[in-house]
Amino acid sequence: MHQDFRRQGVATLLMNEAMRELKKKGCVFLYLKVRSSNTDAQKFYEIFGFKVESVRKNYYGDPDENALLMMARL
Ligand SMILES: CC(C)(COP(=O)(O)OP(=O)(O)OC[C@H]1O[C@@H](n2cnc3c(N)ncnc32)[C@H](O)[C@@H]1OP(=O)(O)O)[C@@H](O)C(=O)NCCC(=O)NCCS
Repeated sequence: MHQDFRRQGVATLLMNEAMRELKKKGCVFLYLKVRSSNTDAQKFYEIFGFKVESVRKNYYGDPDENALLMMARL
């Protein structure tokens, strides 16, 4: 998301809606991957109950970096 539009609750609205709809459809677990250096996004995901499950070594390129696999229970 463009810097100018961050910290206004937009991603919170989208995440709440996505989680509500997926739960309605019977999903139980939600997974995502995030760059290990992207601590800002990790803080955001933690608010929604995501916890680090495992590390995918060198998952990302340009620059090479590990991915954290995060999981939340709906
Ligand atoms: C991560 C991202 C999606 C958050 O979107 P957003 O619309 O700014 O998030 P919200 O406004 O809904 O934030 C909700 C809460 O999450 C946390 N949070 C969000 N951005 C944060 C940041 N940069 N640093 C620390 N906490 C943050 C805060 O607790 C925030 O509440 P607050 O603003 O009242 O303190 C947005 O910063 C973004 O698009 N980043 C660049 C792309 C990216 O990293 N995507 C994720 C790839 S896996």
